[in-house]
Amino acid sequence: MHRPQPRPLAELPIRRLTREDLVACADLCEDRGWPRDEPRWGLLLSAGTGYGIDDPDGKGLVAACVVTSYGPRLAAIGMLLVAGRHTRQGVARRLMEHVIEAADGTPLSLYATAQGQPLYEQLGFGLLGWSNRVGGQFRPRGDAHGAAASASVTTRPAAADDLRTMIRLDHTVFGTDRTHVLARLPAFSDRLRVAEADGELVGYAALWPSGNAHVVGPLIARDTATAKALVASLAATTDRPLRADIDARHKELLGWFEEHGLEPGSRTAVMTYGSHDLPGDWTRRFAPLTVATG
Ligand SMILES: CC(C)(COP(=O)(O)OP(=O)(O)OC[C@H]1O[C@@H](n2cnc3c(N)ncnc32)[C@H](O)[C@@H]1OP(=O)(O)O)[C@@H](O)C(=O)NCCC(=O)NCCS
Repeated sequence: MHRPQPRPLAELPIRRLTREDLVACADLCEDRGWPRDEPRWGLLLSAGTGYGIDDPDGKGLVAACVVTSYGPRLAAIGMLLVAGRHTRQGVARRLMEHVIEAADGTPLSLYATAQGQPLYEQLGFGLLGWSNRVGGQFRPRGDAHGAAASASVTTRPAAADDLRTMIRLDHTVFGTDRTHVLARLPAFSDRLRVAEADGELVGYAALWPSGNAHVVGPLIARDTATAKALVASLAATTDRPLRADIDARHKELLGWFEEHGLEPGSRTAVMTYGSHDLPGDWTRRFAPLTVATG
Protein backbone atom coordinates (compact mmCIF):
# COMPACT_ATOMS: atom_id res chain seq x y z
CA MET A 1 0.00 0.00 0.00
CA HIS A 2 1.25 3.49 -0.87
CA ARG A 3 1.86 5.67 2.17
CA PRO A 4 2.02 9.46 1.68
CA GLN A 5 5.42 10.88 2.58
CA PRO A 6 5.28 13.16 5.67
CA ARG A 7 5.69 16.81 4.73
CA PRO A 8 9.16 18.16 5.50
CA LEU A 9 9.02 20.25 8.68
CA ALA A 10 10.25 23.34 6.89
CA GLU A 11 7.15 23.25 4.65
CA LEU A 12 4.50 23.04 7.37
CA PRO A 13 2.10 25.99 7.49
CA ILE A 14 2.76 28.91 9.85
CA ARG A 15 -0.32 30.20 11.68
CA ARG A 16 -1.17 33.00 14.10
CA LEU A 17 -1.21 31.95 17.75
CA THR A 18 -4.00 33.04 20.12
CA ARG A 19 -4.51 32.88 23.87
CA GLU A 20 -6.01 29.41 23.23
CA ASP A 21 -2.43 28.29 22.53
CA LEU A 22 -1.13 29.30 25.98
CA VAL A 23 -0.68 25.75 27.23
CA ALA A 24 0.96 24.54 24.00
CA CYS A 25 3.39 27.49 24.20
CA ALA A 26 4.15 26.71 27.84
CA ASP A 27 4.72 23.04 26.89
CA LEU A 28 7.25 24.20 24.28
CA CYS A 29 9.07 26.25 26.95
CA GLU A 30 9.18 23.24 29.25
CA ASP A 31 10.47 21.06 26.42
CA ARG A 32 13.44 23.48 26.02
CA GLY A 33 14.10 23.77 29.78
CA TRP A 34 12.61 27.26 30.09
CA PRO A 35 10.03 28.16 32.78
CA ARG A 36 6.47 27.59 31.53
CA ASP A 37 5.53 31.22 32.27
CA GLU A 38 1.90 30.98 31.16
CA PRO A 39 1.10 34.51 32.43
CA ARG A 40 4.00 35.86 30.34
CA TRP A 41 2.64 34.09 27.26
CA GLY A 42 -0.78 35.54 28.10
CA LEU A 43 0.70 39.04 28.10
CA LEU A 44 2.70 38.47 24.91
CA LEU A 45 -0.15 36.91 22.95
CA SER A 46 -2.53 39.72 24.01
CA ALA A 47 -0.19 42.66 23.39
CA GLY A 48 1.68 41.14 20.43
CA THR A 49 1.37 38.70 17.54
CA GLY A 50 2.27 35.06 17.99
CA TYR A 51 3.32 32.75 15.17
CA GLY A 52 3.43 28.99 15.44
CA ILE A 53 3.73 25.73 13.54
CA ASP A 54 1.53 22.79 14.57
CA ASP A 55 3.02 19.35 14.96
CA PRO A 56 1.47 17.17 12.22
CA ASP A 57 1.37 14.31 14.74
CA GLY A 58 -0.98 16.37 16.92
CA LYS A 59 1.70 16.71 19.62
CA GLY A 60 1.29 20.43 20.25
CA LEU A 61 3.58 22.95 18.58
CA VAL A 62 6.74 22.35 16.58
CA ALA A 63 7.76 25.99 17.02
CA ALA A 64 6.60 29.41 18.19
CA CYS A 65 7.66 33.02 18.41
CA VAL A 66 6.08 36.36 19.29
CA VAL A 67 6.40 39.81 17.77
CA THR A 68 5.54 42.91 19.81
CA SER A 69 5.00 45.94 17.58
CA TYR A 70 5.80 49.48 18.66
CA GLY A 71 4.69 51.36 15.56
CA PRO A 72 6.77 52.01 12.44
CA ARG A 73 10.07 52.47 14.29
CA LEU A 74 10.38 49.15 16.08
CA ALA A 75 9.06 45.63 16.61
CA ALA A 76 10.60 43.17 19.08
CA ILE A 77 10.90 39.44 18.41
CA GLY A 78 10.88 37.05 21.34
CA MET A 79 10.28 33.49 22.53
CA LEU A 80 11.64 31.79 19.40
CA LEU A 81 11.45 28.16 20.36
CA VAL A 82 11.65 24.93 18.39
CA ALA A 83 10.75 21.62 20.07
CA GLY A 84 13.90 19.65 20.88
CA ARG A 85 12.87 16.70 18.67
CA HIS A 86 12.58 19.00 15.62
CA THR A 87 15.76 21.08 15.77
CA ARG A 88 18.34 21.55 12.99
CA GLN A 89 15.77 21.03 10.25
CA GLY A 90 15.39 24.64 9.21
CA VAL A 91 12.24 25.39 11.24
CA ALA A 92 13.56 28.45 13.10
CA ARG A 93 15.04 29.87 9.92
CA ARG A 94 11.69 29.54 8.17
CA LEU A 95 9.74 31.13 11.04
CA MET A 96 12.20 34.02 11.21
CA GLU A 97 12.07 34.61 7.45
CA HIS A 98 8.27 34.71 7.73
CA VAL A 99 8.42 37.24 10.60
CA ILE A 100 10.93 39.45 8.75
CA GLU A 101 8.70 39.48 5.69
CA ALA A 102 5.57 40.22 7.75
CA ALA A 103 7.38 43.15 9.43
CA ASP A 104 7.54 44.77 5.99
CA GLY A 105 10.57 46.97 6.63
CA THR A 106 9.90 47.85 10.28
CA PRO A 107 13.22 47.69 12.19
CA LEU A 108 13.40 44.58 14.39
CA SER A 109 15.17 43.88 17.66
CA LEU A 110 15.73 40.79 19.77
CA TYR A 111 17.79 39.32 22.60
CA ALA A 112 19.65 36.32 21.21
CA THR A 113 20.72 33.27 23.17
CA ALA A 114 24.02 31.64 22.20
CA GLN A 115 21.99 28.99 20.31
CA GLY A 116 19.97 31.56 18.39
CA GLN A 117 22.73 34.07 17.58
CA PRO A 118 24.32 32.23 14.57
CA LEU A 119 20.94 32.04 12.81
CA TYR A 120 20.21 35.74 13.37
CA GLU A 121 23.65 36.65 12.04
CA GLN A 122 23.00 34.58 8.93
CA LEU A 123 19.68 36.40 8.45
CA GLY A 124 21.39 39.80 8.59
CA PHE A 125 20.89 40.88 12.21
CA GLY A 126 23.69 43.04 13.61
CA LEU A 127 25.10 42.95 17.13
CA LEU A 128 24.29 46.08 19.14
CA GLY A 129 25.29 45.12 22.68
CA TRP A 130 24.77 42.69 25.51
CA SER A 131 22.36 42.01 28.32
CA ASN A 132 23.60 40.24 31.46
CA ARG A 133 21.35 38.02 33.51
CA VAL A 134 21.69 38.04 37.29
CA GLY A 135 19.82 35.77 39.66
CA GLY A 136 19.65 34.61 43.26
CA GLN A 137 18.48 35.50 46.72
CA PHE A 138 18.70 39.26 47.31
CA ARG A 139 20.56 40.03 50.56
CA PRO A 140 19.70 43.50 51.85
CA ARG A 141 22.74 45.35 53.22
CA GLY A 142 20.91 48.15 54.92
CA ASP A 143 21.90 50.58 52.20
CA ALA A 144 18.50 50.86 50.52
CA HIS A 145 17.81 54.06 52.39
CA GLY A 146 21.29 55.26 51.48
CA ALA A 147 20.64 54.63 47.79
CA ALA A 148 17.32 56.43 47.98
CA ALA A 149 18.82 59.31 49.96
CA SER A 150 21.73 59.79 47.56
CA ALA A 151 19.20 59.96 44.74
CA SER A 152 16.86 62.05 46.95
CA VAL A 153 14.03 59.81 45.85
CA THR A 154 11.21 58.04 47.59
CA THR A 155 9.53 54.89 46.31
CA ARG A 156 5.97 53.73 46.79
CA PRO A 157 3.48 51.30 45.19
CA ALA A 158 2.09 52.65 41.92
CA ALA A 159 -1.48 53.90 42.09
CA ALA A 160 -4.01 53.66 39.26
CA ASP A 161 -3.56 57.31 38.33
CA ASP A 162 0.25 56.92 38.03
CA LEU A 163 -0.13 54.87 34.84
CA ARG A 164 -0.52 57.86 32.54
CA THR A 165 2.66 59.52 33.91
CA MET A 166 4.55 56.22 33.80
CA ILE A 167 3.63 55.77 30.15
CA ARG A 168 4.77 59.32 29.35
CA LEU A 169 8.14 58.79 31.09
CA ASP A 170 8.49 55.38 29.44
CA HIS A 171 7.91 56.89 25.99
CA THR A 172 10.96 59.16 26.31
CA VAL A 173 13.13 56.35 27.70
CA PHE A 174 12.01 53.45 25.48
CA GLY A 175 11.69 55.75 22.49
CA THR A 176 8.29 54.57 21.26
CA ASP A 177 4.83 54.33 22.77
CA ARG A 178 4.33 51.15 24.82
CA THR A 179 0.81 51.88 26.08
CA HIS A 180 -0.58 48.56 24.78
CA VAL A 181 2.02 46.66 26.84
CA LEU A 182 2.24 48.86 29.94
CA ALA A 183 -1.55 49.05 30.37
CA ARG A 184 -1.35 45.30 31.07
CA LEU A 185 1.46 45.66 33.63
CA PRO A 186 -0.71 46.25 36.75
CA ALA A 187 -2.55 42.96 36.13
CA PHE A 188 0.54 41.04 34.98
CA SER A 189 2.96 42.04 37.71
CA ASP A 190 2.89 41.08 41.38
CA ARG A 191 4.32 44.49 42.37
CA LEU A 192 4.62 47.78 40.57
CA ARG A 193 6.47 50.66 42.25
CA VAL A 194 7.31 54.21 41.27
CA ALA A 195 10.15 56.50 42.33
CA GLU A 196 9.57 60.19 42.96
CA ALA A 197 11.83 63.19 43.47
CA ASP A 198 10.47 66.66 44.19
CA GLY A 199 6.98 65.47 43.38
CA GLU A 200 8.03 64.21 39.95
CA LEU A 201 7.91 60.60 38.77
CA VAL A 202 11.53 59.68 37.95
CA GLY A 203 11.33 55.92 37.59
CA TYR A 204 9.25 52.80 37.89
CA ALA A 205 9.81 49.06 38.17
CA ALA A 206 7.77 45.88 38.28
CA LEU A 207 8.21 42.42 39.75
CA TRP A 208 6.58 39.45 38.02
CA PRO A 209 6.61 35.70 38.74
CA SER A 210 8.60 33.22 36.64
CA GLY A 211 9.02 29.65 37.88
CA ASN A 212 10.05 29.95 41.52
CA ALA A 213 11.63 33.37 40.99
CA HIS A 214 10.51 36.97 40.75
CA VAL A 215 11.76 38.91 37.74
CA VAL A 216 12.59 42.63 37.98
CA GLY A 217 11.44 44.40 34.81
CA PRO A 218 10.85 46.86 33.39
CA LEU A 219 13.37 48.90 35.35
CA ILE A 220 13.29 52.53 34.22
CA ALA A 221 15.08 55.14 36.33
CA ARG A 222 16.66 58.56 35.89
CA ASP A 223 19.98 57.25 37.34
CA THR A 224 21.62 54.22 38.95
CA ALA A 225 20.86 55.33 42.51
CA THR A 226 17.15 55.53 41.66
CA ALA A 227 17.32 52.09 40.02
CA LYS A 228 18.91 50.66 43.19
CA ALA A 229 16.24 52.24 45.39
CA LEU A 230 13.48 50.73 43.23
CA VAL A 231 15.06 47.26 43.21
CA ALA A 232 15.69 47.30 46.97
CA SER A 233 12.09 48.32 47.62
CA LEU A 234 10.78 45.53 45.38
CA ALA A 235 13.14 42.95 46.91
CA ALA A 236 11.81 43.82 50.37
CA THR A 237 8.37 42.55 49.30
CA THR A 238 9.36 39.01 48.28
CA ASP A 239 11.13 35.94 49.70
CA ARG A 240 11.66 34.43 46.26
CA PRO A 241 14.99 34.58 44.38
CA LEU A 242 15.23 37.58 42.04
CA ARG A 243 16.17 37.57 38.39
CA ALA A 244 16.93 40.47 36.07
CA ASP A 245 18.34 41.05 32.59
CA ILE A 246 20.46 44.18 32.85
CA ASP A 247 21.92 46.18 29.96
CA ALA A 248 25.64 45.32 30.20
CA ARG A 249 26.55 49.01 30.00
CA HIS A 250 25.04 49.49 33.47
CA LYS A 251 28.13 48.05 35.16
CA GLU A 252 27.56 49.82 38.48
CA LEU A 253 24.09 48.29 38.88
CA LEU A 254 25.39 44.84 37.89
CA GLY A 255 28.13 45.12 40.53
CA TRP A 256 25.55 46.22 43.11
CA PHE A 257 23.38 43.17 42.35
CA GLU A 258 26.39 40.93 42.95
CA GLU A 259 27.18 42.70 46.23
CA HIS A 260 23.60 41.88 47.24
CA GLY A 261 23.88 38.15 46.61
CA LEU A 262 22.82 37.75 42.99
CA GLU A 263 25.09 35.74 40.71
CA PRO A 264 25.94 36.48 37.10
CA GLY A 265 24.19 34.09 34.71
CA SER A 266 23.97 33.75 30.96
CA ARG A 267 24.18 36.77 28.70
CA THR A 268 22.15 37.50 25.61
CA ALA A 269 23.16 39.48 22.53
CA VAL A 270 21.04 42.51 21.69
CA MET A 271 20.60 42.41 17.92
CA THR A 272 18.80 44.55 15.38
CA TYR A 273 17.67 44.20 11.79
CA GLY A 274 17.05 47.18 9.52
CA SER A 275 18.56 49.66 11.99
CA HIS A 276 21.94 50.15 13.65
CA ASP A 277 20.48 51.52 16.86
CA LEU A 278 17.51 51.35 19.21
CA PRO A 279 15.34 54.39 19.86
CA GLY A 280 15.18 55.99 23.32
CA ASP A 281 17.70 56.58 26.10
CA TRP A 282 19.64 53.52 27.27
CA THR A 283 21.10 55.43 30.23
CA ARG A 284 17.65 55.38 31.89
CA ARG A 285 16.64 51.94 30.60
CA PHE A 286 18.14 49.35 32.96
CA ALA A 287 16.05 46.21 32.30
CA PRO A 288 13.36 45.23 29.78
CA LEU A 289 9.93 44.04 30.91
CA THR A 290 11.07 40.69 29.56
CA VAL A 291 13.73 40.02 26.96
CA ALA A 292 10.82 38.86 24.77
CA THR A 293 9.32 42.37 24.56
CA GLY A 294 12.59 44.18 23.86
C1 LIG B 1 17.87 28.17 18.61
C2 LIG B 1 16.70 27.40 18.00
C3 LIG B 1 15.50 28.33 17.89
C4 LIG B 1 17.14 26.95 16.58
O1 LIG B 1 16.05 26.27 15.97
P1 LIG B 1 16.28 25.27 14.75
O2 LIG B 1 14.97 25.02 14.09
O3 LIG B 1 17.05 24.11 15.20
O4 LIG B 1 17.20 26.16 13.79
P2 LIG B 1 17.44 25.90 12.24
O5 LIG B 1 17.36 24.43 11.94
O6 LIG B 1 16.54 26.78 11.44
O7 LIG B 1 18.95 26.36 12.12
C5 LIG B 1 19.38 27.37 11.29
C6 LIG B 1 20.86 27.61 11.54
O8 LIG B 1 21.07 28.20 12.81
C7 LIG B 1 22.29 27.68 13.38
N1 LIG B 1 21.95 26.92 14.60
C8 LIG B 1 20.79 26.33 14.93
N2 LIG B 1 20.87 25.73 16.14
C9 LIG B 1 22.11 25.96 16.58
C10 LIG B 1 22.82 25.58 17.75
N3 LIG B 1 22.24 24.86 18.72
N4 LIG B 1 24.10 25.96 17.88
C11 LIG B 1 24.71 26.68 16.91
N5 LIG B 1 24.10 27.06 15.77
C12 LIG B 1 22.82 26.71 15.60
C13 LIG B 1 22.91 26.79 12.34
O9 LIG B 1 23.75 27.59 11.52
C14 LIG B 1 21.70 26.36 11.56
O10 LIG B 1 21.96 25.97 10.27
P3 LIG B 1 22.48 24.44 9.99
O11 LIG B 1 21.63 23.50 10.79
O12 LIG B 1 22.31 24.30 8.51
O13 LIG B 1 23.91 24.42 10.44
C15 LIG B 1 16.32 26.15 18.84
O14 LIG B 1 17.49 25.36 19.04
C16 LIG B 1 15.72 26.45 20.20
O15 LIG B 1 14.50 26.52 20.33
N6 LIG B 1 16.59 26.60 21.23
C17 LIG B 1 16.15 26.85 22.60
C18 LIG B 1 15.54 28.22 22.77
C19 LIG B 1 16.40 29.34 22.23
O16 LIG B 1 17.56 29.51 22.61
N7 LIG B 1 15.79 30.14 21.33
C20 LIG B 1 16.44 31.29 20.73
C21 LIG B 1 15.99 32.50 21.46
S1 LIG B 1 16.86 33.94 20.93
